[in-house]
Amino acid sequence: MSIELTVNGRPRRIDAPAHTLLVQALREQLQLTGTHVGCDTAQCGACTVLVDGRAIKSCNVLLAQVAGAQVTTIEGLAQPDGTLHPMQAAFKECHGLQCGFCTPGMVLSAVDLCRRHPQADAREIREQLEGNICRCTGYQNIVRAVQQAQAATAAAA
Ligand code: FES
Ligand code: FES
Repeated sequence: MSIELTVNGRPRRIDAPAHTLLVQALREQLQLTGTHVGCDTAQCGACTVLVDGRAIKSCNVLLAQVAGAQVTTIEGLAQPDGTLHPMQAAFKECHGLQCGFCTPGMVLSAVDLCRRHPQADAREIREQLEGNICRCTGYQNIVRAVQQAQAATAAAA
């Protein structure tokens, strides 16, 4: 099976068996290992990427299902010159991570959250991110980071 899609702005063709998961293709064929695997049950959210702007768990989607789509992984979120996306900058400044294992998926889920709910309050942010599990932070600084990114995005609009 040969699948064409765009990953981090770059057209890619991936030859893979029909049962290949998106996360496998990203990690094993494109070496985009910032997309993590924390479970095999679609619960942890560590594998979250953006598909046409929407956050999805890439361990729960076949590569074939995203043929023709625009996929963004954590490697593609910053500007080409290395300038961090506002959400990445906010996580860094607010100490929204410790070990970092959940962070790529958490950041991408948060980007989609802010697109869909730019004025979400702390309770809504927690609800919207409940599909992403963090074992380190207690979530407080993650919520602060999302709020800071919301404010930065609103100020830039
Ligand atoms: S690895 Fe996909 S949800 Fe855990
Ligand atoms: S920072 Fe360690 S799991 Fe979230």
